[in-house]
Amino acid sequence: MDCESGADTSTRKRKLCRLVVLSFALLCILQATLNISLRLAFYSSDTTTTPDCEAIIKNLTKQQDMRMNELARYIQQGWIYFNHSLYYVSSTKNTWNDSREDCLQRGADLVIINSREEQNFIREFKKRTWIGLTDAEKEQTWKWVDGTTPTISFWDTDEPNSYEGTDEDCGEIFFYTRENSWNDQPCDSKNVWICEKKM
Ligand code: BGC
Ligand code: CA
Repeated sequence: MDCESGADTSTRKRKLCRLVVLSFALLCILQATLNISLRLAFYSSDTTTTPDCEAIIKNLTKQQDMRMNELARYIQQGWIYFNHSLYYVSSTKNTWNDSREDCLQRGADLVIINSREEQNFIREFKKRTWIGLTDAEKEQTWKWVDGTTPTISFWDTDEPNSYEGTDEDCGEIFFYTRENSWNDQPCDSKNVWICEKKM
């Protein structure tokens, strides 16, 4: 604004002009201050209380990446993926307890069968194998290694039978050619075993 515009410029006009310029400057300063404070207020509440959408997605992606890496590691070690679980078939034989210990060491447990699909998948390994079933705690009360009672079972004809009075407290897949292939067997017998890790 040109405040010295002519010879007839009166003192009053000049004063008014200064006032306008000063008010404008003050307004600018006020707005800048407001801008900065609002920006600071929102920025800090964003990062401390509610993580933004981008951060949530980044975190989820990271979790998924870690899961995929874990899956890849197991598969590289020979585990097989089926219906949200990984399965490992041992290449040696062992007692039921030592087999279970091996599975636990591998971050898994002896296989728990809870569907016909899973039973038939396990049979495809075509091996006599330990499964995670036992009545060691209470005779004739069969429990899976996670403490649950079987919801579906595939005992072979006349099994479980504690054969001729022997203590048969551990479950196995015996004649895998049959769908009903479970047998109770002395836990000290040595078998191939199958571990399962839920994913
Ligand atoms: C019986 C099973 C028994 C197994 C012991 C089989 O002949 O049918 O019930 O567990 O022998 O090896
Ligand atoms: Ca038996």
